[in-house]
Amino acid sequence: KSGSITVLLMTLLFGSGNSLRMERGFAVGRTDVTKDCNMPKACDVDGFTDWLKLGSYCVKYFNTSANFTDAEFSCVNKIPGGHLVSVHNEVDNHDLFCTVKNISSNNTRVWVGGYQLFQTGKFRWTDGSNWNYERWVPGEPNYIYTKEECVEMNWKEHGKWNDESCFAKKDYFCAFKRLGNRPAVDGAWKSGSGFVLLLTLLFESGNFLTMERGFDVSDTNATSWCSMPKACGVHGFTDWFKVGRYCVKYFSWPQNFTQAEFRCKSKAPGAHLVSVHSYKENNYLLCIVKKFNPRNLRFWLGGFEFFKSGKFFWLDGSFWDYQIWTRGEPNNMYTATEECVEMNWKEVGRWNDDSCSVKKSYICAFNRHYMLEKDLE
Ligand SMILES: *[C@@H]1O[C@H](CO)[C@@H](O)[C@H](O)[C@H]1NC(C)=O
Ligand SMILES: *[C@@H]1O[C@H](CO)[C@@H](O)[C@H](O)[C@H]1NC(C)=O
Ligand SMILES: *[C@@H]1O[C@H](CO)[C@@H](O)[C@H](O)[C@H]1NC(C)=O
Ligand SMILES: *[C@@H]1O[C@H](CO)[C@@H](O)[C@H](O)[C@H]1NC(C)=O
Ligand SMILES: *[C@@H]1O[C@H](CO)[C@@H](O)[C@H](O)[C@H]1NC(C)=O
Ligand SMILES: *[C@@H]1O[C@H](CO)[C@@H](O)[C@H](O)[C@H]1NC(C)=O
Repeated sequence: KSGSITVLLMTLLFGSGNSLRMERGFAVGRTDVTKDCNMPKACDVDGFTDWLKLGSYCVKYFNTSANFTDAEFSCVNKIPGGHLVSVHNEVDNHDLFCTVKNISSNNTRVWVGGYQLFQTGKFRWTDGSNWNYERWVPGEPNYIYTKEECVEMNWKEHGKWNDESCFAKKDYFCAFKRLGNRPAVDGAWKSGSGFVLLLTLLFESGNFLTMERGFDVSDTNATSWCSMPKACGVHGFTDWFKVGRYCVKYFSWPQNFTQAEFRCKSKAPGAHLVSVHSYKENNYLLCIVKKFNPRNLRFWLGGFEFFKSGKFFWLDGSFWDYQIWTRGEPNNMYTATEECVEMNWKEVGRWNDDSCSVKKSYICAFNRHYMLEKDLE
């Protein structure tokens, strides 16, 4: 479809502000989910043939009961681009149910990758994909606006979803997106085992935050000249800039973190608050704010602390592989307040954790490659 048609569709889907209320009306399809249960086929990606094909994903069931954050980070560690599974249609949801029923008939309650974004009442997938399908047990979700809520499957009704405390321990499904028989990972896909090894090294310590504090931190001079990124070159988004694999745009009207994220979702299909993956990208973003709002450089990035875990996470589901904190930051982790990531407090070009309810300007981003593919469809 052409870019603008997709945008229109997205606006229709998400424009109402609360996508949840709208989507409760989605078709509920067959009710006897134990009927017609066929196991999905094996995943044909090299090195992952013990995973199963589920729509455009390969998935695997893990019986090592874990809380939501631990489950998610264990998926992230299993394969580049790995996350808890996201579910986008009735068929995949049914296949997922059949799989857990087949493997673990006595304990079918499992985590899927949905979580409530703070207390907004809106759910997100950890892989950053669109929340475009849902299948709640009638009456659920019922704890929204109160505390951390994550999405499980098979409580009370087979194949249906329930919001549950993220601290509960459950078995879970990991998933990664595939393109034919290759993983569709952002960035370079080295040979399966090579990449997995690298990840193991990066994450073995448990808390990769402390490890990466040593990343290159050369100083950035706020008044010095900097080079603007090029135009992004995607039809319909010519006033966006090309930064790494993303197209990005600066929005100066201050919003709190969640509002900013929801605004981004309405600006372009697949858009989120921006994620940063290298020093170069970080400098491009800095240049953009210097150009458009030199008097107020502070702005939201798309990072936040995942359920007081002390680990940070990008809203778009991309890998947390780079960070450049202001000295002494982040300093408010593990506390009761949600912490979100901004740039340019105290030290220009560096990051700070701040309360998510503060209003700041922000940068939105969408994956260029994804959009170019969409353009060609
Ligand atoms: C998990 O699965 C493994 C291999 O299938 C099995 O040996 C083990 O007993 C299972 N653990 C639990 C807690 O069910
Ligand atoms: C699980 O699936 C396999 C393959 O389809 C099938 O042979 C087996 O009977 C199933 N087991 C259960 C308990 O459903
Ligand atoms: C599952 O439940 C059945 C019936 O309650 C029981 O006979 C069986 O041993 C259980 N299987 C496992 C793996 O716990
Ligand atoms: C999950 O468990 C880990 C320890 O394994 C703990 O540090 C973390 O706070 C827990 N997170 C949640 C959301 O329960
Ligand atoms: C920052 O850059 C400007 C212009 O290039 C220069 O005049 C100034 O001395 C620099 N400041 C620092 C602290 O390096
Ligand atoms: C952001 O603002 C919206 C609307 O003004 C509000 O409902 C929401 O709770 C705020 N979020 C945070 C994290 O403060």
